[in-house]
Amino acid sequence: MVRKHTDKTNQSSESNPQPRIKTTAQRKTTNRVITQETPAGDGPVPQLIYQSDMGKIYCGDSLRLLRSRTKIAPGSVNLIMTSPPFGLVRKKEYGNVDADEYVKWFKNFGRTFYNLLSDNGSLVIDIGGAWEPGQPTRSLYHYELLIMLCRQIGFHLAQEFYWWNPSRLPTPAEWVNVRRIRVKDAVNTVWWLSKTPWPKASNLRVLQPYSPSMRELLEKGYKAKLRPSGHDISENFNIDNGASIPPNLLAIANTESNSAYLRYCEQHNIPAHPARYPTILPEFFIRMLTDPGDLVVDPFAGSCVTGEAAERLRRRWICSELRPDYVEGALGRFQIPVNSSMQVKSPPQMATQADFNPSTMKFQSRLVSQLSLMTDITLATANVQLPEDSDKFYKLPRPGLLWDETPQQQLSQDGGKVRPTRHQSVSESPQSEGVL
Ligand SMILES: C[S@@+](CC[C@H](N)C(=O)[O-])C[C@H]1O[C@@H](n2cnc3c(N)ncnc32)[C@H](O)[C@@H]1O
Repeated sequence: MVRKHTDKTNQSSESNPQPRIKTTAQRKTTNRVITQETPAGDGPVPQLIYQSDMGKIYCGDSLRLLRSRTKIAPGSVNLIMTSPPFGLVRKKEYGNVDADEYVKWFKNFGRTFYNLLSDNGSLVIDIGGAWEPGQPTRSLYHYELLIMLCRQIGFHLAQEFYWWNPSRLPTPAEWVNVRRIRVKDAVNTVWWLSKTPWPKASNLRVLQPYSPSMRELLEKGYKAKLRPSGHDISENFNIDNGASIPPNLLAIANTESNSAYLRYCEQHNIPAHPARYPTILPEFFIRMLTDPGDLVVDPFAGSCVTGEAAERLRRRWICSELRPDYVEGALGRFQIPVNSSMQVKSPPQMATQADFNPSTMKFQSRLVSQLSLMTDITLATANVQLPEDSDKFYKLPRPGLLWDETPQQQLSQDGGKVRPTRHQSVSESPQSEGVL
């Protein structure tokens, strides 16, 4: 005989142990920490742990939360901004699913995301690539994920982005450092998907400073002509709009080392999340794809970077994270009101809306020192001095700068199948660097 549970609170604690999150008194903070909430629907849903003016943090399986219609109404979400556990070959401590199983596992989430999004809403997924086990080739799992979401669930690929992290370490060591047959993998794909071909968006929210060469071009003037590529470059290119449209390559170093979040984790003996993305990444998409007051959801919230960015930008937000210890750390982001000047910083900070005046299309000059991408070539041809705060700019070395020497050795015919001796791999090439 099937025993029916009438006491839902007991049912909840048996089948879904309550996350062990400290109470307000234990933590001695000013947070509003909520430790109990009656589960809705058939099964228990994640617990509401924290609530701010704009957002909520839940702890538990986000699929249950997202399917609980009382928590999030279908069609009510403007942006799902997330970085799911990656299908890494080697399991990481936060419970990644094996690459082969990944797409299957994600499908349930994909369907649920689709139902929750508004018709002009967006789903942005930051997802890193993976290597096939034991061989120097790449898994296709993140492309398969994209195809599944579009072909089987009905999402549209609004645009693919690439997040380049210049500070990424050269891994996997075997292929990159030892055999030297691959280069370092420093780019994550970021799939911007939408429910319809027309998600709401404006790149005016995420403009960036002109490169010095573009500035010079604007000063000297550009002669309208048909380019060899067939592009007809008109006089309109001479118009100084005050800032330029960013490319879909986002150069953001993930180098947070002394943030309020990390200090909080250290002080409270909580493990810092090992796979955080920089605040500027969700900030870019929240700005471009949502308005103040819109609802942003991160179902794989980790340390709640998305929530922090959304709170600062005055969007409503919901973050859900499986692991109680990560939620514990996430609370550190909200110890100090994020609107105050003491907000958590991660380099580099982007322009705020207040810095941009849409009527004149001009950025205030201080923004010129902000996020920018420029090449050595651009700088050389423009013959410009980098501004004093040039440490805030990324330099992208042009491929070929070091190609003036005759190769000492022919390429290995076996593609590196035979492992070189340590002497060979160390002595014949310069040390690769982790940080630019
Ligand atoms: C790549 S991390 C996200 C990191 C986050 N973007 C940050 O910057 O801190 C993925 C997170 O998803 C969480 N996770 C995995 N499965 C989950 C689920 N079913 N519900 C909620 N969270 C889940 C993992 O515990 C992990 O913390």
